[in-house]
Amino acid sequence: MERPKSLKRISTKAMANKFIREQVAEIKKLVGDEKVILALSGGVDSSVVAALLSRAIGKNLICIHVNHGLLRKGESEQVIKVFRNNFKANLKYVNAENLFLQKLKNVSDPEKKRKVIGKTFIDIFAKEAKKIKNIKFLAQGTIYPDIIESKGVKAHHNVGGLPKNLNFKLVEPVKFLYKDEVRVVGLALGLPKTMVYRQPFPGPGLGVRCTGSITRDRLHALREADYIVRTEIEKLKNVPWQYFCVVPDIKSTGIKNGKRFMGWPCIIRAIDTKDAVTAKYHEIPYKTLYKIRDRIIKEVKGINRVLLDFSNKPVSTIEWE
Ligand code: XMP
Repeated sequence: MERPKSLKRISTKAMANKFIREQVAEIKKLVGDEKVILALSGGVDSSVVAALLSRAIGKNLICIHVNHGLLRKGESEQVIKVFRNNFKANLKYVNAENLFLQKLKNVSDPEKKRKVIGKTFIDIFAKEAKKIKNIKFLAQGTIYPDIIESKGVKAHHNVGGLPKNLNFKLVEPVKFLYKDEVRVVGLALGLPKTMVYRQPFPGPGLGVRCTGSITRDRLHALREADYIVRTEIEKLKNVPWQYFCVVPDIKSTGIKNGKRFMGWPCIIRAIDTKDAVTAKYHEIPYKTLYKIRDRIIKEVKGINRVLLDFSNKPVSTIEWE
């Protein structure tokens, strides 16, 4: 599948508006009065597709947002706010945190974790899809790099793979666009900047940053610490390409009110890269590091040590698992 030669690189609002008009007409022609479902993760690609389809077919688009409990703080709330309140979209929210934690109990192998997360996600999505009658179409946020790099499959290790046994016809309105074009279209559709320009976040989410077998308390500590890291780093003028923290499955001693206790370390990671194939440590000003350290120690239960990962890739991958 090749990008049509007639499609010029979309770089301005006017070009995005023209693309939106054309796609809205095409979607209407393709789906008519039928219903379309979409797994809406809150990532840039699925959000842009949701906004586009919502404009084209309104309530006939049914968005399913599965919260697998591995999302960052505030992420699900943003999806609900933007799509239910701003776009008046038909959005089904599924809180599946307990089920995911149950399925992930005692699973410590990183690839196994990814598989469990992927399979549980697909099972839940398929179950929700079956509850809705007369659905013929499935919308997907496939973009052009997915087609080039992974033979049309949405990012090979992403959680949101499509349920193959449901026999839907596909609607993929941004499949010939590059990421920068998807962002321009997203802004023209009225999506918030924070959603359109958010940093890359892996499909298995915080699952790969809560290393080893995931527990509810450590996952909670990770989510809170990640929120502090993001909030403080986003105050900087020069924001890294990707920035987050890891709370690994190890403990060391700490001391509080004269008493020793065991706690987890929190490891800060911030990198710059062009394509995620190689990456360089992004130097964070000490003032910010001190602020992050003090806030995490004070505000996050269970963490008693803050470390900095200043490694480059290679040899250190960006994620810890
Ligand atoms: P690594 O850790 O391989 O990461 O240096 C490169 C980029 O890919 C992201 N990443 C993932 N994205 N599912 C995803 O959707 C995954 O399982 C996954 N693992 C890594 C990572 O965040 C970085 O941007």
